[in-house]
Amino acid sequence: MAKEKSTKTEHYTSKHHHDPLQFPDGFLWGAASSSYQVEGGNHNDWTLWEKGKGRVKDKSVCGEAARHYSLYEEDFKLAKKLNQNAHRLSLEWSRIESERGKWNMKEVEHYRAVLQSLRKNGIKTFVNLHHFTNPIWVSEQGAWARKKTVRDFCRYVEFVVDNFSDLIDFWLTVNEPLINVTLSYLIGNWPPGKKGPVNAFLAYKNLAAAHRKAYKIIHKKLDSAEKKPMVGFANNTASFYTYRKDKLLDFLFVKLSDLIGNDLFYILTGKKTHDFIGLNYYFHYRVKKPDFNALGRFVSAEKEGREASDIGWEINPQGIFDALLDVNKYNLPIYILENGVAASVDHTRQRFIISYLKEVFHAIKEGVPVKGYFYWSLTDGFEWENGYIPRYGLVDVDFKTFKRSVRPSGKLYAEICGNNAIIHEELYYLGHLTEYGERGEMMDGKYTK
Ligand code: BGC
Repeated sequence: MAKEKSTKTEHYTSKHHHDPLQFPDGFLWGAASSSYQVEGGNHNDWTLWEKGKGRVKDKSVCGEAARHYSLYEEDFKLAKKLNQNAHRLSLEWSRIESERGKWNMKEVEHYRAVLQSLRKNGIKTFVNLHHFTNPIWVSEQGAWARKKTVRDFCRYVEFVVDNFSDLIDFWLTVNEPLINVTLSYLIGNWPPGKKGPVNAFLAYKNLAAAHRKAYKIIHKKLDSAEKKPMVGFANNTASFYTYRKDKLLDFLFVKLSDLIGNDLFYILTGKKTHDFIGLNYYFHYRVKKPDFNALGRFVSAEKEGREASDIGWEINPQGIFDALLDVNKYNLPIYILENGVAASVDHTRQRFIISYLKEVFHAIKEGVPVKGYFYWSLTDGFEWENGYIPRYGLVDVDFKTFKRSVRPSGKLYAEICGNNAIIHEELYYLGHLTEYGERGEMMDGKYTK
């Protein structure tokens, strides 16, 4: 594919030079993952759920995932080699407390070794306490639809603070509460599959309480005159646009989507329980509301021929700029805790990285205090109901041999992290369409058009 394109190089006439897009000193560059999606060998509510017919599209089960549980040293060495200075991961509650109140000290040792390995490699740790999966005993008691789970979660948080706080730089309480609640409770196609608006409402309320309480526990235990912990959560933040210009109904539905999708968790938890804004950015929605009686809907990008990822999520870099400008209203430092693309053709990921980071750079220029960026994800992994079909990794994983191979996009991202900047060649070759509407790509460290 690269060869075909290079024949047209001579026709590409633009000779402009791009100044480097220099990111602020101390900017954190990393990648994100979650325990269940990469570790392998877990046993929790998802392990039981995924066995059900039709629940995972490629009929896979998580199983060994990327075998990160035993290969973490190799993965972190690679992250360091790729010039990353921060990493986001989650602790698996079901490993640490597989039975209610029974703490598994072997797993504590394991996770301490994992965090120490990051330290050794000079990588800052962003540790998430809950990334969608629950211990089976939590699921059996009704999971997040029950208040009891909040109390259990708080006990677990206390335990984590007591056992790991020396190794944690940034704390994340929960991941994407609205996605969790929508899929696990409202629609019910994730575990515990407790379908219905009442369960969804209760689960959301309980997740908000869990965040608030966890925030207080961590601060109460760790605040000192010299240092205070940094605590936040990862919010799935979407950009909503009207499908039709000048349609009041579309406009009102955008406002409502924005309120529920982006702001509600902050409203429920209160501004004083966030030390930073943690933003996961994937979704750009065009919202259409046909009339008062019909529910609004998100128009499919793929059906309309707009660029989309392998799983149909619209690729729209400007959305991250708008989302960043919007969350700046909270006046807090901002970390982009997830942003990535499911792409089996690596070229898509290369252009994705450049185009989204360009927008992040411009948001910083507009005065938005973005302090770090985490690409999702370091390696390929298990992608919930999509199984092993989507390839998000900067690093390819062969799921038979567990061999890691850095993709060209991984090298490109490494170059950006190392320079703390996007440089001329990257912008020149990957940042524009040619006059033929073609795109350049990077192969083996060389660029082609
Ligand atoms: C989740 C990840 C997931 C990613 C890509 C995010 O919403 O936090 O667990 O793998 O999206 O689908």
